Amino acid sequence: MQGFNRRKFLKTIGISAVTAGLTTSLGSLRSFGADGIDWYQNINRVKDPLNKTPKEKGHAPVVRWPINIKSGEPFNIDIQIGESLHPMAPNHYIQWIEVYAGIEQVSRIEFSPLCPQAKVTIPIAVKGSSTLKILTRCNLHGIWETAKKVTV
Ligand SMILES: [Fe+2]
Repeated sequence: MQGFNRRKFLKTIGISAVTAGLTTSLGSLRSFGADGIDWYQNINRVKDPLNKTPKEKGHAPVVRWPINIKSGEPFNIDIQIGESLHPMAPNHYIQWIEVYAGIEQVSRIEFSPLCPQAKVTIPIAVKGSSTLKILTRCNLHGIWETAKKVTV
């Protein structure tokens, strides 16, 4: 094949694949809305756990896991959005839930309004005590975070 530089072609494909992988990886950590707004700029958290506002009660992830956690052994985290479950209606619903151990993303679950409940159980294992962060996004009320230390 004249005029076709196989080496150059493979190099270009390789660079494209790496670039695409990097973009996908970063994309999973940073979500931009259709309006171009970086959703992670404004993360809502419960300000006073003993005196939650109605919005905090309705959106902050409620997280439970077993008492005895052993290093490296899997356990389940039960997550529900809101003290009384957040609605899952076509015009108001939970879009996703993310779980981080430290700064590492462990899981991301996407929802559509057809999902009947904003709750999940996720398996996880940690090596040593660490802080678990659970983030969620309501299509109307933004991102909410609950952080909790897991002790092994
Ligand atoms: Fe909401």
